[in-house]
This record gives sequence, C-alpha cells and structure tokens, in this order.
Amino acid sequence: MRLKDKRVFITGAGGGIGRATAEKCAAEGAKVICADISTEAGLATAAAIQASGGQATTVIGDLTDETACAAMFAEGAAAFGGLDVLFNNAGICLSNDTGPVETPLAAWNKTISANLTSVFLCCKAGIPYLLQSSNGVIINTASIVALVGSAFPQIAYTAAKGGVLAMTRELAIMYARRKIRAVAICPGPTATPLVKAFLADDEAWKLRRRYLPMGRLAEPAEIANLVAFLASDEASFITGSAYTIDGGITASYVIDDRSL
Ligand SMILES: NC(=O)c1ccc[n+]([C@@H]2O[C@H](COP(=O)([O-])OP(=O)(O)OC[C@H]3O[C@@H](n4cnc5c(N)ncnc54)[C@H](O)[C@@H]3O)[C@@H](O)[C@H]2O)c1
Repeated sequence: MRLKDKRVFITGAGGGIGRATAEKCAAEGAKVICADISTEAGLATAAAIQASGGQATTVIGDLTDETACAAMFAEGAAAFGGLDVLFNNAGICLSNDTGPVETPLAAWNKTISANLTSVFLCCKAGIPYLLQSSNGVIINTASIVALVGSAFPQIAYTAAKGGVLAMTRELAIMYARRKIRAVAICPGPTATPLVKAFLADDEAWKLRRRYLPMGRLAEPAEIANLVAFLASDEASFITGSAYTIDGGITASYVIDDRSL
C-alpha cells in the first residue's frame, strides 16, 4: 500500500500504459482519477478498479482543450478532495507522421498538441492542486525517442517527446522547494493495443525485434511498476531525472540476434 490515500490523476487512463498504471496505483491504495478522451475506455478502467475493491472515478474530455482540461481537473480534484500525483501520460502516434519532408503540417500540429501541449495544459490546471498537497508529484511520459534518434522516424512525435523531457527538468527545478517533484519516464516499445496492431504483421515484428535486446516488448504492467515507485514517498529525493525503461535498447550498440 505504498500509495495509500494518495490522489492520483492519470491522463490516458483508458489506454495501455495508463490503464495498467491506474490499476497498479489503486492496488497500492491510491484514489485514482481516470482521465481520457474516450468515455468508454475511461469508464472501463474505473470500473475494473472498482470491481477489484479499489477507489476510482472518471473524468472525460480532450486534454488539448484548455477549458475542458481545467474542468476535468476541477471535477477530479473535487471527487477526492485534492490531488497529490499527476501522471501526464496521454499521447498519440499518427501513421502519417514519418519524416520532415513527408509529415503533413496537420499531422505535426495534432501530434504536438496531443503529446506536448496537453502536458503543458495539465500542468497549468493541475499544479495549483499539487501545491496544496504535502508531497506533490508530476510524472511525464516521454519516450526513448526523446533520448536517441530512430531510423523509423516519427518526427513530430519525437519532437513532442523531447519537449516533454525538457519541460520536466524545468518543472522540477521551479517547484523543488515547493514540495513538488517532477520526473520523466522514457519507455521503449510497449505491448499496448496500438503497438501490437502495428506489429501484428510478421515482417514488421521481425524487423523491429532485431533491435530489442530482450527480444520482446515491455508489458504495460512493467511501466506501471516504475510509475508507482516514482509516485510514492520512497522516491522522495528523486526529481528532475528521466527514467529509461526499455529492456536495454538505448544501452545497445550491437544486438546479438543469433538466437532469432
Ligand atoms: N506503447 C509504447 O510503445 C510507448 C512507448 C513510449 C512511450 N509511449 C507513450 O506512453 C503513453 C501511453 O501510450 P499507450 O501505448 O498506452 O497509448 P494508448 O493509445 O493505448 O493510450 C493512450 C490513451 O490516451 C488517450 N488520449 C489520447 N489523446 C487524448 C486527449 N487529447 N485527451 C485525453 N485523452 C487522450 C486515448 O484515448 C488513450 O486511451 C503515450 O504518451 C505514448 O506516447 C508509448
């Protein structure tokens, strides 16, 4: 029960990593606010938590819309009397976001808005609540593409995640003496429905698997374990850092694929 009675606001809680984290936090005693643009997905996560005896509520809306975002935070904070942890996790990845020459401006704008502007707006709306907590925490989901370049380019997504990482450092320094910690996580490819669909094709999977030292994707629950630790008081001296969780991808120079 490392998160007993902590009020945790999770964006994208209806999706792969968000849902696993919502369930993990609830299992650790947190009161979870499941925020998502999808009513069905957001409600499903909260229902699964409640069915297991945990505490959860749902707030629905588009986090790229300043007014909607502020309303979601007001509703979420009212549900449990405040906020202690903000997990900025919602994001998208568009199939027509490829290289700088090919990516349409509309895809660039949508990607930056969903992955970067949403984090800014959630901080704008959420930090006033975190300041009222005795131990506020912001955890932002970046990606390994914020750290290393990919030969499979998604230029807007990469730029957005780089922005999330830079913003996290500044948040950490700004609020270090006001009892809010800010950390980023940089996951590698994770077996969420979106990624599994993309890699369903045998050839695509074979090509990608060559670059995975452990030969497999992360499970969302493995990312959730890291987030739960970072959200807890056990991580009390951790701020301003980025946590890579990628099964060794960014540590690798040559992959031994003789077993493939
Ligand atoms: N899956 C991976 O391999 C991977 C790797 C590194 C980083 N990430 C990042 O982790 C995060 C979660 O990824 P996932 O794979 O679980 O994705 P997912 O698609 O399974 O879930 C994302 C959730 O965010 C919600 N969402 C999207 N835009 C929203 C908006 N504007 N307002 C409110 N909710 C919105 C979606 O409805 C969805 O439920 C994303 O930021 C993603 O970029 C994923």
